[in-house]
Amino acid sequence: MKEFLKPYPAVFPVPALLLTVYDEEKKRSNIITIAWAGNVCSEPPMVSVSVRPTRYSNQLIKKEMEFVLNIPTAEMIREVDICGTVSGNNADKFELTGLTPLAAQMVKGHWIKECPVNIEARVKQIINLGVHDLFLAEVLGVFVDAEYLDSSKRRPDYEKINALAYCPERYVVTGSVVGRYGFTIKED
Ligand SMILES: Cc1cc2nc3c(=O)[nH]c(=O)nc-3n(C[C@H](O)[C@H](O)[C@H](O)COP(=O)(O)O)c2cc1C
Repeated sequence: MKEFLKPYPAVFPVPALLLTVYDEEKKRSNIITIAWAGNVCSEPPMVSVSVRPTRYSNQLIKKEMEFVLNIPTAEMIREVDICGTVSGNNADKFELTGLTPLAAQMVKGHWIKECPVNIEARVKQIINLGVHDLFLAEVLGVFVDAEYLDSSKRRPDYEKINALAYCPERYVVTGSVVGRYGFTIKED
């Protein structure tokens, strides 16, 4: 028997990402932890993030219309939690966490050096959905630590990166591979 639960955003797991966005006034980038996010189009490559208007980062994204999505590893769980509980309104989260800002290449702002993958994106559309604004953004470039590239050199080595995910209210890791795309139709 299945029990009915009242509606809530029920999909899980979701990614746990660190979004960086330039803060013109403070001349530095702010970091916000984001779980309401994902890939939304393959061509052009687009991603989405949902950010509450009450977050300090929301106004920064609306001003710059570009950001970096940094993919943290499970080892960065402390930093992820700090950036998701402290506001950039009254703290420099790079200083607070000890994370290292590196100048981004195609957008204003910074990558987080410790994250093996940094995705630069430009906002194309903003839709207010209710308590969240949905930002739809085109991927301009993806930067990956050389040591985390797979043998094709065209994609990250997903098995090497212990990427963090989120199942509301706990952090989980995505490290163990249990099958490969198309294995059910592949003839050996
Ligand atoms: C794991 C995790 C996921 C989060 N996901 C989101 C999210 O998707 N959207 C959002 O608006 N806030 C999210 N938050 C809350 C913000 O990260 C948090 O309020 C942060 O302090 C806002 O920072 P800012 O005020 O510097 O922008 C999340 C927090 C955590 C810990």
